[in-house]
Amino acid sequence: MAKAKIQYVCSACGASHTKWAGQCGDCGEWNTLSETITAITTNNRQGFAGKKNNAKIQALKDIQMRDEIRTPTGIGELDRVLGGGLVHGSVTLIGGDPGIGKSTLLTQTLASLSRAMPCLYVTGEESLQQVGLRAHRLGLEDVELKLLSETCVENIIALAGEQNPKVIVIDSIQTIYTEALQSAPGAVAQVRESAAQLVRFAKQSGTALFLVGHVTKEGTLAGPRVLEHMVDTVLYFEGDPGERYRMIRAIKNRFGAVNELGIFAMTDEGLKTVSNPSAIFLSRHAEPVPGSIITVTREGSRPLLIELQALVDESHSNNPRRVCLGLDPNRLNMLLAVMHRHAGIAMFDQDVFINIVGGVRLTETAADSALILAALSSFRDKPLANDIFAFGEVGLAGEIRPVPNGQERLREAAKHGFKTAIIPRANLPRKGETIAGLNIIAVQRVSELIETAITL
Ligand code: TYD
Ligand code: MG
Repeated sequence: MAKAKIQYVCSACGASHTKWAGQCGDCGEWNTLSETITAITTNNRQGFAGKKNNAKIQALKDIQMRDEIRTPTGIGELDRVLGGGLVHGSVTLIGGDPGIGKSTLLTQTLASLSRAMPCLYVTGEESLQQVGLRAHRLGLEDVELKLLSETCVENIIALAGEQNPKVIVIDSIQTIYTEALQSAPGAVAQVRESAAQLVRFAKQSGTALFLVGHVTKEGTLAGPRVLEHMVDTVLYFEGDPGERYRMIRAIKNRFGAVNELGIFAMTDEGLKTVSNPSAIFLSRHAEPVPGSIITVTREGSRPLLIELQALVDESHSNNPRRVCLGLDPNRLNMLLAVMHRHAGIAMFDQDVFINIVGGVRLTETAADSALILAALSSFRDKPLANDIFAFGEVGLAGEIRPVPNGQERLREAAKHGFKTAIIPRANLPRKGETIAGLNIIAVQRVSELIETAITL
């Protein structure tokens, strides 16, 4: 029979220790160890792929290939981040701030999928009435969707085993507990063990599983990181719950590309996909304003025009402020140092604020040169023309490096009526190729970039 044992489990990484300590020996986080009573049961040692005694060594060439069976979810932007539809037997973790739309999106997805296959929505957070009310609001009251209000994982698996749904949503994994452990729901060991049981069930029965995960104040998934390792796909909601646009990014995907971005708009009737989002993040000033410039970023597989705003203002503190919204602050510090060292522009006594319009998060370095131009334009209080855009990566030696898919970025901006491009020399279109209506200025060094901007 099971033997109860006290362990100290880190809430950041899920590592367990036999003694309490102020700092986790595995991940180095402080004050994260909490006491958990764990019972060692004999059945929790099998792998996700099945029972141990089925294991057999095989040669790679003898392995039977089966095509992944994918079902489109009926929600285009979700299919995009999933890599082209929902894979049978796959496990997807969806994280995001409270109120960002996780439950809304999954209700819509299941309602759409339940036209073709049996689906089950397990809610541990809201009552069935609340889920019903939401479905009503979304205009989905007459779909064939099964609901279950339950938090014990053994019961969920038993009921799911009887009904054989093809898709299950667990909203949320932090409310689910297993009888095998005695700690409270939401504790690290509970989250990990319940998720492991659900993942095992999904793999053995071929059920597609969505797990909703909460996000902590620091922006990481609450509960052990080990959840991210157990699942096939990790999707994060980005954007601000107060804003109209919500984005979903694939952080990990065993069945598709990562960093793919799906874009939705929150409306009165739930989330609507934005299928042509390339220019929704531009604020379109009537007159040119200092500190604003457009860049073309590539999120996943499509280009996106984005407005960068900078405000450079005299600082009254010994430690000037460097504030970045939607961008890594280290990148800004680096670019300011490059501007000083390679172009003689000193901003050490200035506060610098950077904002990416629309709540987008920039993850690639192609916006470097645009960021330099925005900061310079605000610093000098000289606006750049409305139809200018820039992209290019900046290196520590003051060089402007090429970025992938330059042609595609140029074409996208030209399509939206931009007239002047400032780009890395290596991204120049090949001889003979032109992009209609675009005046292209190629630069190689940061000093050149800044001189060009001053003359514009
Ligand atoms: P919800 O999906 O419950 O968020 P989560 O599960 O991520 O916590 O709620 C999303 C928010 O969106 C909520 O504040 C209400 C709002 N909302 C709409 O604006 N329109 C709608 O049609 C629905 C269903 C919700
Ligand atoms: Mg919810």
